[in-house]
Amino acid sequence: MNRKPTYLVTAGPTREPVDPVRFISNPSSGKMGFAVAREAKRRGARVILIYGPAALVPPRVDEAVGVRTARDMMDAVTGFIGEADVLVMAAAVCDYRPAGYSENKIKKGAGGLTLELVENPDILTEACKVKRPCVVVGFAAESGNLLENARVKLEKKHLDLIVANDITSPGMGFGSDYNAVAILDRDGNVENIDRTTKEEIAVRIIDRIESLLAG
Ligand code: PMT
Repeated sequence: MNRKPTYLVTAGPTREPVDPVRFISNPSSGKMGFAVAREAKRRGARVILIYGPAALVPPRVDEAVGVRTARDMMDAVTGFIGEADVLVMAAAVCDYRPAGYSENKIKKGAGGLTLELVENPDILTEACKVKRPCVVVGFAAESGNLLENARVKLEKKHLDLIVANDITSPGMGFGSDYNAVAILDRDGNVENIDRTTKEEIAVRIIDRIESLLAG
């Protein structure tokens, strides 16, 4: 590619509201996606960052859009996908949201409370229906059978690369400055990266993306 590529990167969790004070979410801090966005920018790419509610300040990139729910994130990603050469979905998107939203705070009753959940759209799948960028990278957050489950997601979501992390490993993954991952590609190769900083993992991911873009 002769011109500088445009990266569309997602980071952080999504937050699915139950009532004005409660929501379903997960402990993603945004660190991994922010590290990818920062490294792509450092290498001269144009970077669009879509991020869910995060305590950290997002890196300086060309466009940064804060979102809340999975459906907000999907709208933002599909809105920018036409400009993207590379999509990196590092966000921890909630697979489910409450079926309804209570305008008033749900009162504590006598017994338990059952919450009905419905499935959120798959952002990777929906965005790539609008336009498939040259390189599409997903993450797999797994608590068992890491490589097998990641390979299923690579195939099902038609990804070029998937970055698999075992989220049960102590001291890394969600919220940590560190992670250990395996990068799987469509040719069956597995690149293992032992515990290191998320910045170093971002370097290795973008090295792989650049070779695919050059390829
Ligand atoms: O944010 P940090 O604290 O730094 O933590 C980093 C991380 C653990 C969040 C990150 O390394 C990570 O694993 N991100 C992906 C988490 C995830 O949602 O994994 P998944 O296996 O459920 O989803 C697979 C892929 O599909 C992901 O690329 C995800 O962004 C995407 N997805 C998921 C659900 C959905 N509705 N739409 C999607 O596009």
